[in-house]
Amino acid sequence: MQTIRESSALRPALAALRGAGERLALVPTMGALHAGHLALVTAAKQRAQRVAATIFVNPLQFAPGEDLDRYPRQEAHDLAMLEEAGCALVWMPTVADLYPDGFATTIHVAGTSEQWEGAARPGHFDGVATVVTKLLIATMPDIALFGEKDYQQLAVIRRLVADLGLPTEIAGVPTVRDGDGLALSSRNAYLSPDERRRALALPKALGSVRDAVRSGEPVKEAVDAARQLLAQAGFDPIDYLALVDSATLEPLDALAGQARVIAAARIGTTRLIDNIAV
Ligand code: PAF
Repeated sequence: MQTIRESSALRPALAALRGAGERLALVPTMGALHAGHLALVTAAKQRAQRVAATIFVNPLQFAPGEDLDRYPRQEAHDLAMLEEAGCALVWMPTVADLYPDGFATTIHVAGTSEQWEGAARPGHFDGVATVVTKLLIATMPDIALFGEKDYQQLAVIRRLVADLGLPTEIAGVPTVRDGDGLALSSRNAYLSPDERRRALALPKALGSVRDAVRSGEPVKEAVDAARQLLAQAGFDPIDYLALVDSATLEPLDALAGQARVIAAARIGTTRLIDNIAV
């Protein structure tokens, strides 16, 4: 596996990797890799002959006071995992590479990025959209893969790629969960053993809304009961818990078409997000 740190080396390395027209898949990450990321690489290998990954903890998507400084960094471990998973190339740009002095451009995806995570973390999706646009332009992959765990992020990225006419297919990969149901996340590393146990209320709350609305219970009652489950487990604040349309992420007050239950809430100092299909 080739590790590229100098951005000037990226273009020739990608050209060599593509050889005689091999399909290239990109797996963008912020490192602190877990089995969820490996599922992205596995899915990528099924969709392209060559897989490249990026590791970049993007300061633009963290607001002041968020966990940029304590975000887990474990480069040697990540590189070993990516090599083992079958990545051919890893690009690890520096902040100065992606945001040189004078950098002044922001990508804002109106609508899709403004509710839920966008409302709870103002500026977050502008940071995601800006870095993903830069990563896609720099690597020009045939396909890029993102986890469904960040469901709204996936919707924002699909919108921006369509709007900017970027020649990359965007694929979502189902969330990977621990055996007890907790979605894998780099931020799970912040949880104490007691918080880790109580965090299980999050997938349970999502599942309770799914089951209740499927069996015809009114959405508001299902959501209120699930909020109580979260509060009893010690989640505070609950930023949102809602039944939404899968494509537009607009809230639904009755089950219709393709729907998703989405939630974000804090346990101790750790903010967790999760979602499931209905
Ligand atoms: O999902 C992530 O890890 C990040 O938001 C991404 C897409 C790599 C952009 O920094």
